Amino acid sequence: MTARKLPPGDRPLKTLERVLSKAGLCSRTEARSWIAAGRIAVNGRVVRNPDHWVDLERDLVQFDGKPLEREKRVYLLLHKPTGYLTTYRDPQGRPTVYDLLPSRDRYLFPVGRLDLDTSGLLVMTNDAQFAERLTNPDYHVPKTYLVKASAHLDDDQIDRLRNGVELRDGPTRPAAVNRVRESGGKSVFEITISEGRNRQVRRMVEALGAKVLKLARTAIGPLTIGDLAAGNTRQLTTEEVRALVGAELR
Ligand code: URA
Repeated sequence: MTARKLPPGDRPLKTLERVLSKAGLCSRTEARSWIAAGRIAVNGRVVRNPDHWVDLERDLVQFDGKPLEREKRVYLLLHKPTGYLTTYRDPQGRPTVYDLLPSRDRYLFPVGRLDLDTSGLLVMTNDAQFAERLTNPDYHVPKTYLVKASAHLDDDQIDRLRNGVELRDGPTRPAAVNRVRESGGKSVFEITISEGRNRQVRRMVEALGAKVLKLARTAIGPLTIGDLAAGNTRQLTTEEVRALVGAELR
């Protein structure tokens, strides 16, 4: 593999691979394979190096001979059912969230991940900056989950969830927790966290000696799942996109 050279000066340079994936045409893996296949030309010459620097203000990038156009931004809210992977393709052929999208014409990627067994609100977009804004832990964008635990959690345990639970990757940040109901010796509660660590809610509940029986994301910042049925999608409104970009909890 050739070493990636740094771009000269501070012109708006991006690698060819990033230019393609950011245009919303494909995933980064697909971009690399299209580049390797010689389908991409820069200023009329085929470039097979995915790390080739491109200056979007000066260079003409063509895909199969056609100039690359910046794609319209798309923001979809998907109500992910359980049993669907948040991944583009599964080697074992299991259903993925892409099977639920109205079309695969544009490459959309998920804003964060939900586990196979988690349902609820998932945003799909081709806007990488927007996705970064919602997932970068520095922005503290709150995510709310409805949780059914396998046992009754007493007030001390609920307080531990609120104040921070020690996990193998460090203590969790303060969380908002509200009890919803107690039924059949099981606690149902709502938790709002401002981090997005892997399997975080499940691990927090496991740290208390219980298990998560059901987990559904109901909100990201000001955006709520509302009455969108499981498996369905809808476009976000301009106001919702704006409100999400402004969402922050300290
Ligand atoms: N926390 C989890 O444990 N799983 C999810 O899917 C989301 C948050």
